[in-house]
Amino acid sequence: MRVLVIGGGGREHALVAALARSKRVDAVLCAPGNAGTAQVAENISIPVDDHEALIALAKERAVDLTIVGPEAPLCAGIVDRFRDAGLRIFGPTAAGARIEGDKAYAKRLMKHAHVPTAEARIFEHYDQARAYVATRDTGVVVKASGLAAGKGVTVCDDPAEALLVLERIMVDQQFGEAGQTVIVEEILKGQELSVHALIDGQTIYVLETAQDHKAVGEGDTGPNTGGMGAYSPAPIATEELLSYVDENVLVPIVDALRNDGVDYSGVLYVGLMLTPGGPKVLEFNCRFGDPETQVILSRLESDLFDLLEAVVDGKLADADVRSTAKPSVCVVMASKGYPGAYERHKTIEGLDVAANMDDVHVYHAGTRLGNNRVLSTGGRVLGVTALGFDLADAKARAYQAVDVIKFDNAFCRRDIADKAIHATAGS
Ligand code: AMP
Ligand code: GLY
Repeated sequence: MRVLVIGGGGREHALVAALARSKRVDAVLCAPGNAGTAQVAENISIPVDDHEALIALAKERAVDLTIVGPEAPLCAGIVDRFRDAGLRIFGPTAAGARIEGDKAYAKRLMKHAHVPTAEARIFEHYDQARAYVATRDTGVVVKASGLAAGKGVTVCDDPAEALLVLERIMVDQQFGEAGQTVIVEEILKGQELSVHALIDGQTIYVLETAQDHKAVGEGDTGPNTGGMGAYSPAPIATEELLSYVDENVLVPIVDALRNDGVDYSGVLYVGLMLTPGGPKVLEFNCRFGDPETQVILSRLESDLFDLLEAVVDGKLADADVRSTAKPSVCVVMASKGYPGAYERHKTIEGLDVAANMDDVHVYHAGTRLGNNRVLSTGGRVLGVTALGFDLADAKARAYQAVDVIKFDNAFCRRDIADKAIHATAGS
């Protein structure tokens, strides 16, 4: 089989690496890919939004299955186009991807299906939004409804800050059309949990859990990023909690989508806040998480190609899904300045030494090849991932690998997985 992975980040490197391990896969293409995917796949320099060129590539190279990494092409309807062209592709249609691309729609769907989520108001007019926030005496979360490259959500500790954020989104149009509709919601407190469910239109299969570290600084301080690290499993996700999520979130939302005419197919990533009042949905994503994919797929023992194909063919009920009991930890190495403007074009050393360590996978995120060297191009540069006999061991191995990799002004958080290690210590 020949597969094509669309995207060029750490999540896509993890997908490419797991697909390359499949006995049924002979060749992996990745568009556009990065220096890491180039080691196991053939990179093709086509941007993720050039759907016509991607379709032409899939036809020309007789690709049997395409897997879409990022949300933007999904929301823009790449799955619909591939299917119209008679090509097999993993991911939801544009109508399904709306659950991520239109947060107001997702909120309404959740309300309708009685899915637990933060109390929220939806605004299309700045004056109304401003008037509402001005009457509040507590902090709120302000969200641009559309896709804003992970930057559309601000947790505002006081209403004055929320007014500034509203003005930036609705008046200055910081996110363009994505900010025409805004959601103002209550701040939820608790630990976050990422639940990834494969869905084939009917069957729902929950993958191993993961927890992400969004804040840039240790102890969860500083601005939010795309994710500075992750670990799997999340010990906080008990069987009981997962069956609550299945019953109260996944089943009702898949039913609500179906009632809306959408047979959701692909992965649904549920971002939850585990509040004292029970789990509540922060958001739905129509794709795999990054860096959650790196930790989840590092643990997968069964064949990823078989699994994704089962989703596409509506045969998920028969699929074989096995993961190692060994936990995994992913530490993101980032460029100075991230999540703001960051440095790039730095030469990265030590990658081979790290990659040869036992149970270590160095997933590339923002890298490219130049003059036979690996250079940094992104804010998140690498996702250094290790398995261990427990979380503390996986963490230690991941940082041993991090410590042999060098590029100018690289930084990482040193406390990835500590939350879970401390919670389980002595238990
Ligand atoms: P979202 O894209 O909606 O998940 O938001 C991105 C991040 O913002 C989440 O992962 C949380 O860290 C934070 N966030 C979103 N909504 C809330 C909320 N209601 N209360 C507290 N934090 C939130
Ligand atoms: N790890 C956060 C995300 O993928 O959205």
